[in-house]
Amino acid sequence: MCGIVGYLGKRDAYPILIKGLKRLEYRGYDSAGVALLDEQGDLRVYKTKGKVADLEAYVADKNAGGTVGIAHTRWATHGEPNSTNAHPHVANSGNLAIIHNGIIENYAVIKRQLEAKGVVFHSQTDTEVLVQLIDYVQTTRQVDLLTAVRIALHTVIGAYAIAVLDKNNPDVLIAARKSSPLVVGIGDEEFFLGSDASPIIEYTDRVIYLNDQDVAVIRRGHDVEVVDFYNEKVEHDITRVNLNLAQIEKGGFPHFMLKEIYEQPDCLRDCVRGRINSEANHIALSAIIDHKERLTKARRIIIVACGTSWHAGLIGKQLIEQYCQLPVQVEYASEFRYSNPVISEHDVVIALSQSGETADTLAAIELARERGAFVYGICNAIGASIPRATHTGSYIHVGPEIGVASTKAFTGQVTVLAMLALALAWERGTVSEEEYVRVIAALNEIPDKMQELLEQGEKIRDISRIFTYARNFLYLGRGYNYPVALEGALKLKEISYIHAEGYPAAEMKHGPIALIDEEMPVVVIATQNALYEKVLSNIQEIKARHARVIAIVSKGDDTVSQLADAAIELPSTEECLEPLLATIPLQMLAYYIAVCKGKDVDQPRNLAKSVTVE
Ligand code: G6P
Repeated sequence: MCGIVGYLGKRDAYPILIKGLKRLEYRGYDSAGVALLDEQGDLRVYKTKGKVADLEAYVADKNAGGTVGIAHTRWATHGEPNSTNAHPHVANSGNLAIIHNGIIENYAVIKRQLEAKGVVFHSQTDTEVLVQLIDYVQTTRQVDLLTAVRIALHTVIGAYAIAVLDKNNPDVLIAARKSSPLVVGIGDEEFFLGSDASPIIEYTDRVIYLNDQDVAVIRRGHDVEVVDFYNEKVEHDITRVNLNLAQIEKGGFPHFMLKEIYEQPDCLRDCVRGRINSEANHIALSAIIDHKERLTKARRIIIVACGTSWHAGLIGKQLIEQYCQLPVQVEYASEFRYSNPVISEHDVVIALSQSGETADTLAAIELARERGAFVYGICNAIGASIPRATHTGSYIHVGPEIGVASTKAFTGQVTVLAMLALALAWERGTVSEEEYVRVIAALNEIPDKMQELLEQGEKIRDISRIFTYARNFLYLGRGYNYPVALEGALKLKEISYIHAEGYPAAEMKHGPIALIDEEMPVVVIATQNALYEKVLSNIQEIKARHARVIAIVSKGDDTVSQLADAAIELPSTEECLEPLLATIPLQMLAYYIAVCKGKDVDQPRNLAKSVTVE
């Protein structure tokens, strides 16, 4: 939610800031802006509604010189997306500019207090309140910029990552964070700021991940200094980031989403690498080795997550219950945090998050820790807030995911959950050696089988063309494939704006069947597992009501293929691993339908990749 970039150094700041914004555009893209201090010391601010490309076009014929600047791409919270509400916001003195990601919860109170003192506001945003407050503190108390920022941050309640530029301090940038991510990059006599490392890696691999309540003072010719809100020095580590540009570029694909769908076989190989020892037929997850006692003695597991990660959690529940014989609850993190949950020190909470920054999941982790649970994070973004807030965890190692609709992170999460379930079951003695070895072997074969499925891309594209007319879709699955149906429906609605619902197939009779007619296509995951016959009956019922059926079937299953209007064959695997395969055609179906409808697949309207506000 909102992307922040900053630069202070020896080069022109503007091209670096624009490139950085483009890399962060997945975080929000309804308006964008930049503030620069030019050679004469003038503060120039340019803002536009729309995407970063619109900002670039607007600035093209303007003075964009200067070696220090800040820039922002917005996902609106307070005030509609327009050029007034876009960041940076400038204080009335004309000296300070700020960019902000997050929400200032008590902005209305502060705004009223400042208005009573004569401060005039120009936008509807909470962010403007913060910059006017810093300005007010600086001018009324005659304090330096750092002190004014610290005092202001003592006053505000909420979540924020901010960067402040001051016309009177052209060689300084101040950055601070609380509950929203912020990274400082350290180059050769130059410094960078980013909501994540992606705008920075082109220039340096040395970064500081700021922690909550850190204020970074970036000063030309000096080392970065980090202090807390009380001006006490905070020790910080300079970390080397292991990301390369190819990982965050499209690599010849028309969209990041398609690239990420096609990356899945390699991602899964990376995910299991070093964890599955094929010769010894054994899984070694360092978190389980390090915390064996705590994890094997757990009496219950609670999985907390949001969105696609929550769907992966539903598959995790089935895996852990089947193999570890432990009860598992799956909760929306947003509900869990306010539900006064009964948690004990015998519980293990698994927090699933691609970005590692989702505000609700972070809050759920804090609550679980306060109540004594042991928290295990499963994340993708290295060094993000969630991996740092948990007791232990496993990265999914699928590389940066840029497309807003999650694809490879989902299959990566399911893969880690499968390894976790099997490794824990082995330690608990709840899985037979024969089954343990067999499922590990099947997991090892998944990347090749995914590859086989991806080769059906053209066929799926042709199928999708027939279905772009639909206004509603129903997705049905059972058992392990019920969460796949939910995820398939979510993918379609996220990027094509077609209404879609996922249902357990047997529930169809309790409501959704009333909607079924020739205009409502139904996607059915009908693989040959324990519930195959029952799903077959559902298909008959759907066909009797003249709906068109797209079926995901086991390879060679002519019965369903002949009944369905379109069928996509899945290579066979263990039932518990089927979601890893069945998800792929549903991702592709959603992708091609959205492309056929001319939608912006990588940046769907109203959505953001990393939801750092409640
Ligand atoms: C947003 C994204 C989804 C994602 C969800 C949870 O809504 O658009 O793709 O599944 O957040 O994000 P997380 O990073 O915690 O997995």
